[in-house]
Amino acid sequence: MSLYDLARPLVFRLDAERAHGLAIEALKRGLVKRQDIPLDSRLRVDLVGLSFGNPLGLAAGFDKNAEVPDAMLRLGFGFVEIGTVTPLPQEGNAKPRIFRLPEALAVINRLGFNNEGHAEVAERLEKRARKPGIVGVNIGANKDSADRIADYVTGIHRFAELARYLTINISSPNTPGLRNLQKGSDLDDLLTHAVAARDGAAALTASERKPLFLKVAPDLSLDEVEAIAETAKRRKVDGLIVSNTTLSRHGIEGHKLVNEIGGLSGRPLYGRSTYVLAAFRRALGPEFPLIGAGGVENARTALGKIEAGADLVQLYSAMVYGGPDLPIRILKDMIRFLDKTGLDTIRHLRDSKVEEILARDPPVGWEQARA
Ligand code: FNR
Repeated sequence: MSLYDLARPLVFRLDAERAHGLAIEALKRGLVKRQDIPLDSRLRVDLVGLSFGNPLGLAAGFDKNAEVPDAMLRLGFGFVEIGTVTPLPQEGNAKPRIFRLPEALAVINRLGFNNEGHAEVAERLEKRARKPGIVGVNIGANKDSADRIADYVTGIHRFAELARYLTINISSPNTPGLRNLQKGSDLDDLLTHAVAARDGAAALTASERKPLFLKVAPDLSLDEVEAIAETAKRRKVDGLIVSNTTLSRHGIEGHKLVNEIGGLSGRPLYGRSTYVLAAFRRALGPEFPLIGAGGVENARTALGKIEAGADLVQLYSAMVYGGPDLPIRILKDMIRFLDKTGLDTIRHLRDSKVEEILARDPPVGWEQARA
């Protein structure tokens, strides 16, 4: 039993956002016990010019303002994605706006990109600029922005030097209309500008071009998956993160919080997001970098994402239930799995179940949950 197992009943008596704030505070002050991170060359992943010590990352939203990226790396994560950051600071939606559903190991949130804005976050990242560890920056658009594409371009310029990679997030369900940027000519337009901004930023500073990822929703039809895949490839995006939270309520029917507005994440998202991941892998072919997120809670689900096509995986919601020891537990179990199977790299698992997953029936209500 970990310390967090003991503290959890107390933590869960607090409002979810307040509990999260306390967790950030504890991490900032170094109150979270440090443990040895298992190092194993079989877990190493080389992708988009970066060398990841292990494939398990912290998804965006946990450390929106880059307050604790190094503390999170010390918990064992192979990479940490901060943000979503918008050009101007933003309050987000009215509270309460994060809900725990412990019976389902799920979370519903409608935060709405609350964050301290580019200037503040960039200053924090500047202070840690020479530290090791892969820290990516997830960028978004302000709710009231007159030109959302311009917000992404500004973000790319602001963070190109500070980030090891950049993620364009157009898949939050909590900024009205944002997901429309996933569609047709709007997506093409956004990616054209974003890639040009990334290339321009590199030329301006005579530095390397940072990998540019696009983060998508799980609430897409197969046709939409194919259209996004085609545009992302044509515009030379470096990778996709699949996926953000879902609007579906499948898996939590009858729960007292089922009607709370927002994006659902955690265990009920696993099947849906893994199916969409496999669909993207099939649409994009074996070379295109994919990061799988949604319902990763242990080594089995993390490896399941890799089998469904992921090069790397990310988690967030499982931290709420598993606590700070979770990443190391997952890494140790992955190593045990490699010992047992005799695989000399975790990469051998990649794509091994894409066809099997896609041959199954799509998750219930999959194509109905679109915004
Ligand atoms: C998120 N997520 C998220 N994603 C993003 O791109 N920008 C963000 O600011 C946030 N904020 C956020 C807040 C909260 C409270 C949650 C639970 C999630 C989505 C997150 O990064 C991830 O894609 C999904 O939650 C799916 O992974 P898990 O949580 O099932 O492991």
